[in-house]
Amino acid sequence: MRKNKIETVILAAGKGRRLKKSTPKPFVKLNGLPLLAYSLKTFQAHPKVTSIILVTGKGSIRKAKEIVRKMGFTKVKAVVSGGKKRIDSVIRGLKEVSKQAKYVLIHDSARPFAGKRIIDGVLKALSKYKMAIPGNTFSDTVKETDFSGIVKKTLVRENLYRIQTPQGIHSLLIPDIISLSKKASSVYDEAVLLEKEEKVKVVKSDSANIKVTTPEDLAFAEFITQKQSSKNRLQWKK
Ligand code: CTP
Ligand code: MG
Repeated sequence: MRKNKIETVILAAGKGRRLKKSTPKPFVKLNGLPLLAYSLKTFQAHPKVTSIILVTGKGSIRKAKEIVRKMGFTKVKAVVSGGKKRIDSVIRGLKEVSKQAKYVLIHDSARPFAGKRIIDGVLKALSKYKMAIPGNTFSDTVKETDFSGIVKKTLVRENLYRIQTPQGIHSLLIPDIISLSKKASSVYDEAVLLEKEEKVKVVKSDSANIKVTTPEDLAFAEFITQKQSSKNRLQWKK
Protein backbone atom coordinates (compact mmCIF):
# COMPACT_ATOMS: atom_id res chain seq x y z
CA MET A 1 0.00 0.00 0.00
CA ARG A 2 1.24 3.48 -0.85
CA LYS A 3 1.82 5.59 2.20
CA ASN A 4 1.51 9.17 1.07
CA LYS A 5 -0.91 10.89 3.44
CA ILE A 6 -0.07 13.47 6.09
CA GLU A 7 -2.52 13.30 8.95
CA THR A 8 -2.78 15.63 11.92
CA VAL A 9 -3.95 14.83 15.43
CA ILE A 10 -5.23 17.94 17.19
CA LEU A 11 -5.37 17.60 20.95
CA ALA A 12 -8.28 19.37 22.59
CA ALA A 13 -9.21 17.10 25.48
CA GLY A 14 -7.58 19.06 28.30
CA LYS A 15 -9.53 20.95 30.92
CA GLY A 16 -7.20 23.91 31.16
CA ARG A 17 -7.07 24.06 34.94
CA ARG A 18 -4.38 26.75 34.97
CA LEU A 19 -6.54 28.99 32.80
CA LYS A 20 -9.13 29.02 35.60
CA LYS A 21 -12.27 29.22 33.41
CA SER A 22 -15.41 27.14 33.70
CA THR A 23 -15.26 26.26 29.99
CA PRO A 24 -12.64 23.66 28.93
CA LYS A 25 -9.64 25.51 27.45
CA PRO A 26 -10.09 24.39 23.80
CA PHE A 27 -13.53 26.06 23.80
CA VAL A 28 -12.55 29.27 25.56
CA LYS A 29 -13.06 32.22 23.22
CA LEU A 30 -10.10 33.99 21.67
CA ASN A 31 -11.20 37.11 19.83
CA GLY A 32 -14.74 35.69 19.81
CA LEU A 33 -13.84 32.24 18.46
CA PRO A 34 -13.05 28.98 20.25
CA LEU A 35 -9.33 28.42 20.78
CA LEU A 36 -9.27 25.06 18.96
CA ALA A 37 -10.62 26.69 15.78
CA TYR A 38 -7.30 28.45 15.22
CA SER A 39 -5.32 25.20 14.92
CA LEU A 40 -8.08 23.60 12.87
CA LYS A 41 -7.88 26.51 10.43
CA THR A 42 -4.10 26.27 10.10
CA PHE A 43 -4.07 22.54 9.32
CA GLN A 44 -7.19 22.78 7.15
CA ALA A 45 -5.40 25.42 5.07
CA HIS A 46 -2.09 23.57 4.75
CA PRO A 47 -1.87 22.08 1.25
CA LYS A 48 0.04 18.97 2.34
CA VAL A 49 -2.18 17.97 5.26
CA THR A 50 -4.70 15.39 4.05
CA SER A 51 -6.85 14.92 7.14
CA ILE A 52 -7.35 15.90 10.75
CA ILE A 53 -8.29 13.79 13.76
CA LEU A 54 -9.72 15.92 16.54
CA VAL A 55 -9.41 14.59 20.09
CA THR A 56 -11.63 16.28 22.62
CA GLY A 57 -13.31 15.73 26.00
CA LYS A 58 -16.10 13.18 26.16
CA GLY A 59 -18.62 15.87 27.05
CA SER A 60 -17.43 18.18 24.27
CA ILE A 61 -17.76 15.95 21.21
CA ARG A 62 -21.05 17.46 20.07
CA LYS A 63 -19.79 20.97 20.52
CA ALA A 64 -16.57 20.14 18.64
CA LYS A 65 -18.49 18.57 15.76
CA GLU A 66 -20.69 21.65 15.52
CA ILE A 67 -17.64 23.93 15.27
CA VAL A 68 -16.13 21.68 12.59
CA ARG A 69 -19.36 21.79 10.55
CA LYS A 70 -20.12 25.48 11.00
CA MET A 71 -16.61 26.63 10.18
CA GLY A 72 -16.18 24.31 7.23
CA PHE A 73 -13.23 22.23 8.46
CA THR A 74 -13.74 19.55 5.84
CA LYS A 75 -10.45 17.74 6.52
CA VAL A 76 -11.65 16.57 9.94
CA LYS A 77 -12.31 12.86 9.44
CA ALA A 78 -12.91 11.90 13.07
CA VAL A 79 -13.79 13.53 16.38
CA VAL A 80 -12.89 11.19 19.24
CA SER A 81 -12.75 11.42 23.00
CA GLY A 82 -9.41 11.80 24.75
CA GLY A 83 -7.98 10.33 27.92
CA LYS A 84 -6.98 11.38 31.39
CA LYS A 85 -3.48 12.56 30.52
CA ARG A 86 -2.19 14.22 27.37
CA ILE A 87 -0.39 11.07 26.25
CA ASP A 88 -3.64 9.09 26.61
CA SER A 89 -5.30 11.60 24.26
CA VAL A 90 -2.34 11.31 21.86
CA ILE A 91 -2.79 7.55 21.73
CA ARG A 92 -6.54 7.81 21.19
CA GLY A 93 -5.79 10.06 18.22
CA LEU A 94 -3.00 7.86 16.84
CA LYS A 95 -5.39 4.90 16.81
CA GLU A 96 -7.49 6.75 14.20
CA VAL A 97 -4.58 7.32 11.83
CA SER A 98 -5.06 5.49 8.54
CA LYS A 99 -2.73 2.89 7.05
CA GLN A 100 -1.99 5.24 4.14
CA ALA A 101 -0.45 7.83 6.45
CA LYS A 102 3.23 8.52 5.89
CA TYR A 103 3.68 11.26 8.48
CA VAL A 104 1.61 12.27 11.48
CA LEU A 105 1.66 15.71 13.07
CA ILE A 106 0.53 15.99 16.67
CA HIS A 107 -0.55 19.45 17.72
CA ASP A 108 -1.82 21.06 20.93
CA SER A 109 -4.93 23.14 20.33
CA ALA A 110 -3.56 25.34 23.12
CA ARG A 111 -1.12 26.73 20.51
CA PRO A 112 -3.32 28.83 18.22
CA PHE A 113 -0.51 30.49 16.23
CA ALA A 114 1.51 27.58 14.81
CA GLY A 115 1.84 28.77 11.24
CA LYS A 116 2.58 27.21 7.86
CA ARG A 117 6.28 27.99 8.16
CA ILE A 118 6.65 25.81 11.27
CA ILE A 119 4.64 22.97 9.74
CA ASP A 120 6.76 23.13 6.57
CA GLY A 121 9.93 23.01 8.67
CA VAL A 122 8.76 19.93 10.55
CA LEU A 123 7.68 18.18 7.34
CA LYS A 124 10.98 18.95 5.66
CA ALA A 125 12.91 17.48 8.59
CA LEU A 126 10.76 14.34 8.43
CA SER A 127 12.21 13.56 5.00
CA LYS A 128 15.48 12.93 6.84
CA TYR A 129 14.53 12.03 10.41
CA LYS A 130 11.81 9.82 11.86
CA MET A 131 10.75 12.48 14.32
CA ALA A 132 10.94 16.27 14.18
CA ILE A 133 9.84 18.82 16.75
CA PRO A 134 9.79 22.64 16.74
CA GLY A 135 11.62 24.57 19.40
CA ASN A 136 13.05 27.95 20.37
CA THR A 137 16.31 28.72 22.08
CA PHE A 138 16.41 30.79 25.27
CA SER A 139 17.21 34.46 25.28
CA ASP A 140 17.93 34.38 29.02
CA THR A 141 20.93 32.71 30.57
CA VAL A 142 19.97 29.25 31.82
CA LYS A 143 21.43 27.77 34.98
CA GLU A 144 20.90 24.41 36.58
CA THR A 145 20.43 24.36 40.36
CA ASP A 146 19.98 21.72 43.02
CA PHE A 147 16.61 21.42 44.76
CA SER A 148 17.49 24.14 47.25
CA GLY A 149 18.09 26.62 44.41
CA ILE A 150 21.88 26.67 44.59
CA VAL A 151 23.48 26.96 41.14
CA LYS A 152 25.26 23.83 39.99
CA LYS A 153 26.24 25.06 36.56
CA THR A 154 25.50 27.42 33.68
CA LEU A 155 24.20 25.57 30.65
CA VAL A 156 25.24 26.10 27.04
CA ARG A 157 22.29 28.16 25.87
CA GLU A 158 22.78 27.43 22.20
CA ASN A 159 22.04 23.75 22.78
CA LEU A 160 18.88 24.24 24.82
CA TYR A 161 15.43 24.42 23.28
CA ARG A 162 11.95 25.06 24.58
CA ILE A 163 9.92 22.51 22.71
CA GLN A 164 6.54 23.18 21.13
CA THR A 165 4.09 21.45 18.81
CA PRO A 166 3.32 20.33 16.09
CA GLN A 167 5.52 17.31 16.67
CA GLY A 168 5.96 15.20 13.56
CA ILE A 169 6.57 11.45 13.33
CA HIS A 170 6.79 8.77 10.69
CA SER A 171 3.62 6.71 11.03
CA LEU A 172 5.78 3.59 11.34
CA LEU A 173 6.61 4.76 14.89
CA ILE A 174 3.00 4.67 16.09
CA PRO A 175 3.20 1.12 17.53
CA ASP A 176 6.41 2.08 19.39
CA ILE A 177 4.82 5.18 20.90
CA ILE A 178 1.82 3.18 22.05
CA SER A 179 3.88 0.44 23.67
CA LEU A 180 6.48 2.79 25.20
CA SER A 181 3.79 5.03 26.69
CA LYS A 182 2.46 2.09 28.69
CA LYS A 183 5.82 1.61 30.37
CA ALA A 184 6.73 5.26 30.97
CA SER A 185 5.84 6.79 34.34
CA SER A 186 5.62 10.42 33.20
CA VAL A 187 5.55 11.63 29.62
CA TYR A 188 6.11 15.29 28.76
CA ASP A 189 5.74 14.74 25.06
CA GLU A 190 6.00 12.09 22.35
CA ALA A 191 9.69 12.83 21.81
CA VAL A 192 10.55 11.77 25.36
CA LEU A 193 9.40 8.27 24.46
CA LEU A 194 11.51 8.04 21.34
CA GLU A 195 14.62 10.12 21.85
CA LYS A 196 16.65 7.26 23.33
CA GLU A 197 16.06 5.09 20.28
CA GLU A 198 15.67 7.49 17.36
CA LYS A 199 17.30 10.69 16.21
CA VAL A 200 14.76 13.39 16.99
CA LYS A 201 15.44 16.58 15.04
CA VAL A 202 14.67 19.99 16.52
CA VAL A 203 13.47 22.51 13.94
CA LYS A 204 13.75 26.25 14.70
CA SER A 205 10.33 27.63 15.51
CA ASP A 206 9.25 31.19 16.20
CA SER A 207 8.19 33.07 19.27
CA ALA A 208 4.63 33.59 18.02
CA ASN A 209 3.85 29.91 18.60
CA ILE A 210 2.90 30.48 22.25
CA LYS A 211 0.92 28.06 24.39
CA VAL A 212 -2.13 29.48 26.07
CA THR A 213 -1.74 28.19 29.62
CA THR A 214 -2.53 31.01 32.07
CA PRO A 215 -5.00 33.95 31.98
CA GLU A 216 -2.01 36.18 31.10
CA ASP A 217 -1.26 34.02 28.05
CA LEU A 218 -4.86 34.36 26.90
CA ALA A 219 -4.62 38.16 27.22
CA PHE A 220 -1.42 38.10 25.17
CA ALA A 221 -3.05 35.87 22.55
CA GLU A 222 -5.94 38.37 22.33
CA PHE A 223 -3.39 41.09 21.72
CA ILE A 224 -1.79 39.05 18.91
CA THR A 225 -5.14 38.39 17.18
CA GLN A 226 -6.02 42.09 17.37
CA LYS A 227 -2.78 42.88 15.59
CA GLN A 228 -3.33 40.36 12.81
CA SER A 229 -4.66 41.91 9.64
CA SER A 230 -8.35 41.41 9.07
CA LYS A 231 -7.44 39.30 6.03
CA ASN A 232 -5.71 36.66 8.16
CA ARG A 233 -8.09 36.83 11.05
CA LEU A 234 -10.23 33.78 11.67
CA GLN A 235 -13.94 34.19 11.03
CA TRP A 236 -17.07 32.08 11.23
CA LYS A 237 -18.11 30.87 7.79
CA LYS A 238 -20.91 32.96 6.29
N1 CTP B 1 -4.64 17.63 26.40
C1 CTP B 1 -5.43 16.58 25.96
N2 CTP B 1 -5.82 15.61 26.86
C2 CTP B 1 -5.44 15.68 28.16
C3 CTP B 1 -4.63 16.75 28.60
C4 CTP B 1 -4.24 17.72 27.68
O1 CTP B 1 -5.80 16.51 24.79
N3 CTP B 1 -5.85 14.73 28.98
C5 CTP B 1 -4.27 18.68 25.43
C6 CTP B 1 -4.82 20.05 25.80
O2 CTP B 1 -6.15 20.21 25.31
C7 CTP B 1 -3.82 20.99 25.18
C8 CTP B 1 -2.53 20.19 25.12
O3 CTP B 1 -2.87 18.84 25.42
O4 CTP B 1 -4.18 21.36 23.85
C9 CTP B 1 -1.45 20.73 26.04
O5 CTP B 1 -1.85 20.62 27.38
P1 CTP B 1 -2.01 21.81 28.42
O6 CTP B 1 -1.64 23.11 27.81
O7 CTP B 1 -1.37 21.37 29.69
O8 CTP B 1 -3.61 21.88 28.57
P2 CTP B 1 -4.47 21.37 29.79
O9 CTP B 1 -3.97 20.07 30.29
O10 CTP B 1 -5.88 21.45 29.33
O11 CTP B 1 -4.21 22.55 30.84
P3 CTP B 1 -3.85 22.40 32.40
O12 CTP B 1 -2.59 21.55 32.44
O13 CTP B 1 -3.65 23.80 32.86
O14 CTP B 1 -5.03 21.73 33.06
MG1 MG C 1 -1.98 19.89 31.16
